[in-house]
Amino acid sequence: MKIGDGLGASSLLAANTAGKAQPKRVMGIDFPHVVGLAAGLDKNADYVDALSSMGFGFIEVGTLTPRPQPGNPKPRMFRLKSEQAIINRLGFNNKGIEHACGNIAKLRNRGVLGINIGKNFDTAVEHANQDYIYCLRQAYQLADYITVNISSPNTPGLRSLQFGDEFNSLLDELKEEQARLQAEHKIYTPIAVKLAPDMSEEQIASCCESLLSREFDGVIATNTTLDRSLVATSPHAAEAGGLSGGPLSEKSCEVLKCIKAEVGERMPIIGVGGIMSADHAQQRLAAGADLLQIYTGFIYQGPALIEEILTAISEDS
Ligand SMILES: Cc1cc2nc3c(=O)[nH]c(=O)nc-3n(C[C@H](O)[C@H](O)[C@H](O)COP(=O)(O)O)c2cc1C
Repeated sequence: MKIGDGLGASSLLAANTAGKAQPKRVMGIDFPHVVGLAAGLDKNADYVDALSSMGFGFIEVGTLTPRPQPGNPKPRMFRLKSEQAIINRLGFNNKGIEHACGNIAKLRNRGVLGINIGKNFDTAVEHANQDYIYCLRQAYQLADYITVNISSPNTPGLRSLQFGDEFNSLLDELKEEQARLQAEHKIYTPIAVKLAPDMSEEQIASCCESLLSREFDGVIATNTTLDRSLVATSPHAAEAGGLSGGPLSEKSCEVLKCIKAEVGERMPIIGVGGIMSADHAQQRLAAGADLLQIYTGFIYQGPALIEEILTAISEDS
C-alpha cells in the first residue's frame, strides 16, 4: 500500500487487518475474514466504500423496505455510555430498496455484501410476506447473501413473524421465490434469518427446526433486546427501543449456544450482539459462531476493534 493514497488512517488499518485476516468459506461465500459490520449502520448502502476501507470482512446494509420511510420521530437513539450500550427505536428509517440497489450496482471494488430486508411499518403483518418477497427480488442479483429481518423490536408486529404459521408461511414463500430466482438468473443467493434474543429455548428450537427443514442457508443471532434488567439504573433505561452493546453480550451468546445445540454443523451461524472485545469474539466463536458482526462495539471503539479481534483470533490458530 502506498502512503498518501488519500484514504489515510482507515486504509492503513485495513492493511493491518488484511495481514491478520484468515479467509473463511461460509454459506458458499469466501469471506476475507470473519468480522463484519452488522445491519443498521449503513441502512441505504450510501457508505459501503468508506466502511470497507476500515477493514471489515463483510458489510450488511439495511434494513431496507420496499418503499422509503422516515422511521420514528426523534429523539430515537440514546447512548448509555457507562454501560457501553445503545438504545435505539429508529424504526427502519431508509430510502427504500431501490435506492440502495442503485448504489450497490454502482460500487466498483466491493467486498462481501449482505442486504438486510424488512417490511414497511404500514404494511399489515398479514401482508408482510409481500414486502419480503418484493425486496428479495430486488436484491437477489446484487447481494452475496440476503438477511431476512424479523427481529427488530421497533416495527409493530414484526417479531410475531418469528413464530408459528406466520413464520412457516414466510419461510415457505421465501424458499419458493429463491428457487424461482435461481432458475431465472442462474445464481444462488443464500438467505439467512435474523432472530431476536428475547426467545425461550422452546421458541429457539422451533425456529431452528423450521429453518433446517426448509434448508435455509444461515441464521443470525441476535438483534437488539427489549430486556432492561442489566441497565436498570441508567437514566435512559425507560426509553422504548432495542438495547445493544455490552449488556446484550451474555444473552446473545446464550441464544447462540442454544441455536448451535439445535443446528450443529447443518446451518452456519453469524454471531452478533454485544461483541465489545477480542474476548467476546473468541467466546462467540467457541460457542459455535461461523462469522461475527459488530455494531455498538464499533460505535464506541472504532475500527481498532476489528484489528484487536483479528489479532486475537490469529494467535489462537
Ligand atoms: C442504531 C442501531 C440501528 C440498528 N438497525 C438495525 C436494522 O436496521 N436492521 C437490523 O437487522 N439490525 C439493526 N440493528 C441491530 C444490529 O444489527 C445488531 O444486531 C445489534 O445491535 C446487536 O449487536 P451490537 O451489540 O454489536 O450492536 C441496529 C442496531 C443499532 C444500535
